[in-house]
Amino acid sequence: MSIQEEVQKRKTFAIISHPDAGKTTMTEKLLLYGNLIRSAGTVKGKKSGKFATSDWMEIEKQRGISVTSSVMNFPYDGYHVNILDTPGHEDFSEDTYRTLTAVDSVVMIIDSTKGIEAQTLKLFKVCRMRGIPIFTFINKLDREGKEPLELLEEIEQVLDIETYPMNWPAGMGKGFLGIFDRYGNQFVKHNVGDVETYIPNKELDQPEHQDLTSNPTYEAAKDELELVEEAGDQFSLQAVLDGEQTPVFFGSALAPFGVQLFFDTFINMAPTPTPRKSTEGIIQPDSPDFSGFIFKIQANMNPAHRDRIAFIRVCAGKFDRGMSVKLSRTGKVFKLSQSQQMVASTRESIDEAYAGDIIGIYDPNAYQIGDTLLEGNDKFEYDELPQFPPEVFKKVTAKNVLKSKQFRKGIEQLVQEGAIQLFRDKLTDSFILGAVGELQYDVFKYRMQNEYNAEVMFESIGERIPRWLKEGEVDESLFDGGNLLCKDRDGNHLVLFRNEFALNWFKDKNPKVELIDLFEVN
Ligand code: G4P
Repeated sequence: MSIQEEVQKRKTFAIISHPDAGKTTMTEKLLLYGNLIRSAGTVKGKKSGKFATSDWMEIEKQRGISVTSSVMNFPYDGYHVNILDTPGHEDFSEDTYRTLTAVDSVVMIIDSTKGIEAQTLKLFKVCRMRGIPIFTFINKLDREGKEPLELLEEIEQVLDIETYPMNWPAGMGKGFLGIFDRYGNQFVKHNVGDVETYIPNKELDQPEHQDLTSNPTYEAAKDELELVEEAGDQFSLQAVLDGEQTPVFFGSALAPFGVQLFFDTFINMAPTPTPRKSTEGIIQPDSPDFSGFIFKIQANMNPAHRDRIAFIRVCAGKFDRGMSVKLSRTGKVFKLSQSQQMVASTRESIDEAYAGDIIGIYDPNAYQIGDTLLEGNDKFEYDELPQFPPEVFKKVTAKNVLKSKQFRKGIEQLVQEGAIQLFRDKLTDSFILGAVGELQYDVFKYRMQNEYNAEVMFESIGERIPRWLKEGEVDESLFDGGNLLCKDRDGNHLVLFRNEFALNWFKDKNPKVELIDLFEVN
């Protein structure tokens, strides 16, 4: 098969949601369709707190398969599907955001009883920043949740994106009758035991369906759907691919109901690997030379195995095991012999990969997050990974002042690697670390001690709202001690506002000062 044909088969996506919306349950169902696991059931032990790591590890323990490794792939409907895990819960970190730079589309799961929640909103903003197509699955229809119209309005207003319901639910909770499938011109009826029957629209007026069609819940839903058809947005695949419109599906991941229908539609509509921006212009996914970028480095937390795995998103060409590639940042050449693909069953070693695939390679302590690897004589770098706004800030000092050399070296390297962000307080010059999630601090502390022999102490300064300032316009006298004025590692000024109130107060008083939010869509 040609490179182009291989690329056209790839569908690489991530599932994003707030904890408990149903990501694990949905993933499990998709793995089931992909024949990657044999039986699905509720993942037990979740609330016991015994599992400090990601859901995937829980699945692994429950199912006896190895999926810790963040990526799963399986063939489906002629496609080669890659699903990337976006760590949530206590694993939520910059890695979660960065994973989104390695996918071509995203499935956003929303709990119909809760609507849009904090973590979904953050992840959604990253998708919007990067123009990633978003498909929405509104879950838990087997429960009494918010009204479908209300949910659509919430998505449109809070997330500022057009919605197009691909299907429409008739009832919910105990009175759930099924869904109108607008795309497939049929009604998917919900029967006892969550069994689905598909009734084509043109057969709905037949007498055997009268029980269904004369049900007031059905009639009310049909009226609502007509309203949506008249007043709602038109479907536009281009708008979906541009990240301007989200197709919305309703269903229940647990039942499952509407999941296969969702997945079949999604897999056909979702984009195959798209061209990517680089310092030398646009790179086509089917160009002959291999290239890719590192979006995540996993240092093994087990001191007995100091190995580090770098995760590469293949963006172009063909990867062959044993091939030599050049690290664009330094020009150094590496032989990629210990490549691994992180699939279920084991960390299998892989022989080839194409654009859209994710490979894990052994990192001889040479790579950094954001690095580009290239085959041949090419010389370019993929667009820099963006800096994401941290939320949790802590002052950090060395426990033992005699170890300050190790301390500085460790911080410097870990910051450069992208494990955590470093800021310097303008007034006192102290080190302030910024992270998206607490886990980053645990990893930082552990690695400082084990890799650099430097014990660290943290002093929390709590959750802060960072806003960057336009260079050349920094008037230090405007910032009191409460809202910390800092510099990031590139020397840019930013302010760590104490809270929303302090931020708004400052904005009111100083309307001329431009405050830059890294999450703002440009
Ligand atoms: P997450 O990965 O997004 O955190 O969510 P997860 O799939 O673990 O689901 C969170 C809870 O919601 C689980 O229940 C799960 O069974 C339930 N759930 C998922 N999809 C649906 C759905 O369509 N309908 C209903 N009613 N529930 C759903 P739990 O009580 O936390 O776990 P367990 O005790 O059932 O194992």
